Order: sequence, then structure tokens, then C-alpha cells
Amino acid sequence: MPYAHITGWGISVPEPVLTNDDIAKMVETSDEWIRDRTGIRERRIAREDQFTSTLAVEASIKALEVANLAPTELDLIIVSSSTPEYIFPATACIVQDQIGATKAGAFDLLAACSGFVFAANMAAQSIRSGSIKNALVIGSETLSRFTNWKDRNTCILFGDGAGAFVIQASDQPGGILSAVMRSDGSGADSLTLLGGGARHPATEATVHEGKHYIQMDGKAVFRFATRVMGSATKEALELAGLTTTDVDWVIPHQANYRIIETAAKYLKLPLEKFVINVDRYGNTSTASIPIAAVEAIEKGNLKSGDKVVFVGFGAGLTWGALVAEWTGPIPTKRHVYPKQYRLFARLRSLVRRALRFIEGLFSRREL
Ligand code: ACO
Repeated sequence: MPYAHITGWGISVPEPVLTNDDIAKMVETSDEWIRDRTGIRERRIAREDQFTSTLAVEASIKALEVANLAPTELDLIIVSSSTPEYIFPATACIVQDQIGATKAGAFDLLAACSGFVFAANMAAQSIRSGSIKNALVIGSETLSRFTNWKDRNTCILFGDGAGAFVIQASDQPGGILSAVMRSDGSGADSLTLLGGGARHPATEATVHEGKHYIQMDGKAVFRFATRVMGSATKEALELAGLTTTDVDWVIPHQANYRIIETAAKYLKLPLEKFVINVDRYGNTSTASIPIAAVEAIEKGNLKSGDKVVFVGFGAGLTWGALVAEWTGPIPTKRHVYPKQYRLFARLRSLVRRALRFIEGLFSRREL
């Protein structure tokens, strides 16, 4: 049975920074309150011309560069997002087209902030079963588009960004060792974005009632999160035949510093073993785990052989944890340039659109 290794990684965060002081000009709050209750100092906000797919594509190209893998070698693309570009087509298909992943199946996965853990597990399972070799898993968000900037309970929390992992088959032991995925729909009301789906399609009334904004029972989510972060970590470690003493790094969903602190206490692990960057990005939902992971790698903290736990929770309710032995890129002598495939991908997309148009003209004549 092949092993599933994380061999590439990349992030994309928009440049515009929104500080707590900026938010204090929009709603009744303060930098001190936000830092105290959440640990957040600032977050990134996508420019008008940046979309969930824009950030996803940028993160993906970087991840493919690290893995030294051509987009044409990808078998599978999963975009995990709480803010997909559309209900359909899947954001993953937009990414597939833009990076030139000509042989990849692509789909979106919606499990809110747990989505990246779920998606990485799905990709690893497909690799271990032998059905695919190379997967691209992306967490990408433009939460700012669904944030009510008049609601101080939610607007202080969220930010935009994307992170991607390349996951590949290898005969070398290591890589993704275990995972748990859980959900509890009885808590669905705690965190919602009700408008725009089939139950509440967009109408003047849904807009007026604020149904197209994120709504949250902060206290309920907080209680749930502190309960499940530790238990999911322990369960996943047990499945991997490990204990907390084996853990080098925990990379948690970055929602609130106090939630991470509580999980650390529950697991009896020092906070130094937790990768935390919620202060600079806020809660970027499915993107928060890969963004934190890539920062830890770039700082030189995450090293080959380290045992890492990725753990997330979110709307649904959903939660999950994934244990990996960190390895890095698969050594190879060849060198590929994934960025160059973008030009080829653009041309290919144009040609295919033109062919589809011409095909349409002919089939109309035939009818
Ligand atoms: N500034 C100032 N005061 C505020 C603000 C604010 N931004 N927001 C709320 N308050 C007030 C409240 O009105 C309340 O006042 P009251 O006592 O007079 O009623 C008081 O501050 C305390 O409010 P709480 O809600 O009790 O504050 P709490 O300490 O619980 O912190 C928070 C709120 C930060 C939202 C916290 O509950 C939290 O982080 N919850 C988890 C949220 C989360 O992780 N969500 C994402 C999940 S992942 C996903 O799927 C997207």
C-alpha cells in the first residue's frame, strides 16, 4: 500500500491589512477588547479583483513549485471552502482550468473550518487505495464578502487567504498517518450563512434580513471548540499509535487564541508546540491550517520526521484531526516550472471555449 506524503505547500494572502483600530471605526469595539478576547490584531482582506479561486490558484502554483510537480501530473484537486466562488461550478474546476491540470478530477468540499483536514484525509485515502498518485488540496476563503461589517460579534474575527498542499504517493513510510472526521448537525444553528442556498434563495427579503451574512452564537461555538479540539487530537494520535508525548507540533484552526490555549491545557502540551498566527490573519476558516503550516515551515520550525497534528472545528458542526509525519518534497533530478503552465492553461482554455462555440453553431444547424 502506498503512503501519502505532503510534498508541497504554498499560501496566498491578500496585501490589504485591516487592523483592529480600523474596525473600531466601523463598530463599537476596541483594539484592546479584540486582542483580549480573541488574540487577533489584524487580518487580510481580498481586493475587489481577488476571488476565492484567485487566492487558491496562487497558493497552488507555489505548492506545485515546492513539490516540483507539473499541474498535468495531478489526478485530483479538492478545494475546501466556506466561501466558494459559486454554488456551482465548483471553485476547484476554476482552479483546474487556470493552472492547467488537464488530467485532474476537481470538486469542492464544504465542511467549514474543518474542511482542510477533511479534504487532506480524502486525498490521502485516495492515494493509499492506489486509485490516484498526486493530489492538490486547497483551503481558500474570501470571508470578508460574507461578513456583516456592522455586526461586532462577527466582523472582528474573519480574514481572507488561501493555503495549498500537494499530497503524493510514495513507497517510503511516513506522511499522513491517521485522521478522524466528526460532525454534529444538531449544532447547525450555532454558525450559519443561510442565504443564497435552495432554502433561502436571494430575494429582497433575504438581503434585508441579513441572511447573506455569517451569523454566529459565539459562546456556543467557543464551548464546542474547546471540547472537541483536544478530544479529536487524542483520537487521531491513538489511531496512529502515538501519544501526546510524541507530538512535535500541533497546527490548530486559528479561530481564537483562548480556544488554542484551552486545547493546550487539555492536552497537557506546552503552548510552544502550537503554531499560532491568529494575531496576524484572524480566522481564515479552511485556509487557516495550511497558512499556519507554511509559516512554520518557512521559519524552519517544521522539520523532516516531525510528528504533526492538524486539528480543526467549524460550522456544521464539524471537527477533525489529522496526524502526519512530516517528510517534504520527493527527491528528483528533473525540474518543472508550474508557473509556465498557466500561460499554456490560458491558451488551452480559450481554444476549448472557441471549439465549444463552433460546435454549438454546427449542432444548431443540424437541429
Ligand atoms: N467589542 C466589544 N464588545 C463586544 C464585542 C466587540 N467586538 N463583541 C461582543 N461584545 C460584548 C457583548 O455584547 C457582551 O456584552 P454584554 O455582556 O453587555 O452582553 C460582552 O462583550 C461579552 O460578549 P461575549 O459574547 O460573552 O464575549 P466572548 O468572550 O464570548 O467573546 C467571541 C466573543 C470572541 C466571539 C468568542 O465567543 C469566540 O471566539 N467564539 C468562537 C467563535 C469562533 O471560533 N467562530 C468561528 C468558528 S469556525 C467557522 O466555521 C467559521
